[in-house]
Amino acid sequence: MANTVIIGTQWGDEGKGKIVDLLAEYADVVVRFQGGNNAGHTMVVDGEQFISHLVPSGILQQKTCLIGNGLVVDPAVLVEEIDYLTGKGVPVTPENLRVSDRAQVIMPWHQKMDVAREKKIGDKKIGTTGRGIGPTYEDKAARTGIRFVDLIDPDVFGELVRTMVAEKNFILQHYLSEAPLNADAIIAEYKGYADRLAPHVTNVSVVMDEARRRGEQILFEGAQGTHLDIDHGTYPFVTSSNTVSGNACAGAGIGPGALTDVMGIVKAYTTRVGQGPFPTELFDETGDAIQQKGAEFGATTGRRRRCGWLDAVLVRNAVRLNGLTGLVITKLDVLGGLDELKICTHYRCKGEEVRHFPASLKVLADCEPVYETLPGWSEDVSGVLKKEDLPRNALDYLSRIEDLLETPIQIISVGPGREQTIVLRNPFV
Ligand code: GDP
Ligand code: IMO
Ligand code: MG
Repeated sequence: MANTVIIGTQWGDEGKGKIVDLLAEYADVVVRFQGGNNAGHTMVVDGEQFISHLVPSGILQQKTCLIGNGLVVDPAVLVEEIDYLTGKGVPVTPENLRVSDRAQVIMPWHQKMDVAREKKIGDKKIGTTGRGIGPTYEDKAARTGIRFVDLIDPDVFGELVRTMVAEKNFILQHYLSEAPLNADAIIAEYKGYADRLAPHVTNVSVVMDEARRRGEQILFEGAQGTHLDIDHGTYPFVTSSNTVSGNACAGAGIGPGALTDVMGIVKAYTTRVGQGPFPTELFDETGDAIQQKGAEFGATTGRRRRCGWLDAVLVRNAVRLNGLTGLVITKLDVLGGLDELKICTHYRCKGEEVRHFPASLKVLADCEPVYETLPGWSEDVSGVLKKEDLPRNALDYLSRIEDLLETPIQIISVGPGREQTIVLRNPFV
């Protein structure tokens, strides 16, 4: 029996949604364990595109999809997403989508504060998705958050909203120069979401435990990426949750002994949305070419993604932090047509060789990436179904990645479609 965690190794948008959708065929349960609708996970099946922000990417395969206690959930967005998927012929029901009674609810003040704070700090902004993620996790840690179990209890919910609105209005009006919120209006609006979502709300940890007792297999769907992790990422240019594999357990409600595989999704180059350091970023026509060919626009905010060469220092960090047992290389097709490719093997900082990602952004700013150059390939690989049919130079590129990361490549993705995938090892079979 296998229980596999899928993790982004870079700064998000590595193609986690595609791989989760693909592997979900072999799993019984798919669970998200952190983040919220800052995530945008894309799946393409028979040419049709689906983007999910909250519902696990196992939904297209109609598996049991779970939203774990570690998430911050905007109920309006969840209701909208259920309707969007159902409208596209993908039924989402209280049987196939369960939401943890302990997941935190994103409230209007969270979203408002996220956006207003970014506006206030101007140049120093993080470049958040503006979805209220940070403020909601802050309230969770402050023990003033509202959970799904509270949302569906009108008495508890009403009291919590009135208390919080009094506090948040003070900050909104007097610190952020925003209009105050009205508690009665919020209570009325959220009653609609509570009625819609109540049948989905349950103890997700128990659902997983029962599934395991039946011998079923679980797929854990990470969101964001290792370098957006609140502890291990490029702090403060990070998200507000732990994105690494260790959090799959705490954020879903399962013990670490259950995990058998941790697959790291590695985009064949690097991208980042929002502010923050990016040592291998390209500011030239090669960067533009990758951005255009890779259609690198955010699935959540539509922002242009910054692009650069593959950074082995970054991904080696992810191998260690997540205990990766295998790699999935995505978007290999995008690199076709470039004369040569570069991989950053290490950094040089004031004459010293740096092999581990530094904690200090000041030190990182002084780091120069040191590259190894490999020959490119001109062939279109988007239709290749077998590894041996890839061009020699593409095989050499992959082989160099395996050597540098000391981890085997188990899946190669050559296009957005579910079928555009070369599976070398499937953890579930
Ligand atoms: P996620 O957040 O990690 O799930 O990734 P996103 O969905 O935000 O971004 C990945 C983008 O790349 C999506 O538009 C996918 O459809 C697309 N994609 C995934 N794998 C491949 C691939 O191998 N080749 C190409 N060309 N596109 C891919
Ligand atoms: P998926 O799951 C890429 C980035 C934002 C910003 C920072 C903090 O699709 O890979 P937040 O709204 O979380 O407070 O923003 O994190 N970010 C992502 N970047 N992919 C994501 O998710 C992201 N989720 C958050 O752009 O830099
Ligand atoms: Mg994404």
